[in-house]
Amino acid sequence: MILVTNWKMNPLSLKEAERLLNSYRKFKDAKILIAPPFVFLYPLIKKYSKYFDFGAQNIYYEEKGAFTGEISAKMLKNIGCKFVIINHSERRKFGEDLKIANKKIFSALKNGLDVFLCFGEDKIIKDKDELKKYWDKESKILLKNVPLNSKKIYFVYEPSWAISTQNIGPAPRDLILYFLDWYYKRFKFKILYGGSVSPENIKNYLDLKLNGFLIGSQSLNIKNFRKILKLVYN
Ligand code: PGA
Repeated sequence: MILVTNWKMNPLSLKEAERLLNSYRKFKDAKILIAPPFVFLYPLIKKYSKYFDFGAQNIYYEEKGAFTGEISAKMLKNIGCKFVIINHSERRKFGEDLKIANKKIFSALKNGLDVFLCFGEDKIIKDKDELKKYWDKESKILLKNVPLNSKKIYFVYEPSWAISTQNIGPAPRDLILYFLDWYYKRFKFKILYGGSVSPENIKNYLDLKLNGFLIGSQSLNIKNFRKILKLVYN
């Protein structure tokens, strides 16, 4: 089981970041991937890459040049990053769309980074046929010309409405089952679930055909994340 921790724009200091990492370290066999803010990547990689793989929460698709404020896949690779999260719904709120995400996938793959590719509906769609049509349409744009046998890509089913900040709660088990049925008929990438994963609900998902979870807010809560680690790895 892979657990990807998306720290988003947290914590505020390197000291606090190290405190979090040290609390994760007690679980020796765990496969925990860390996506801290850019500014902490290099110092954390230098000190902790024996224990964890580190990656970025975003990249820009060009390699270098006049792109103020952006960071490329090549730069990340050069400092020892292993992966990047692409198409997170919080990036889409900044105006990024599926076509931009598609370009980022190529840039990441070209530079040898693994891709954790978020995917999911922004609003709850109750009609099951409509939902499938939505997934079909979106995945075609997102994965245009992407090699569907890539072992570097990990799909993350993460409907934006299920993210903890929306206060709706995680995708119900039935919906994830329905998604997996749709997914396995089309794709072979490894598949994770993300959205309000907590120690209370993760048990409902552990027996599904998932390869792991993308965890946001609960990865910043030492007590709760340790509970999650115990449930997944003990
Ligand atoms: P959450 O965030 O676990 O706080 O819902 C997940 C994510 O946004 O990747």
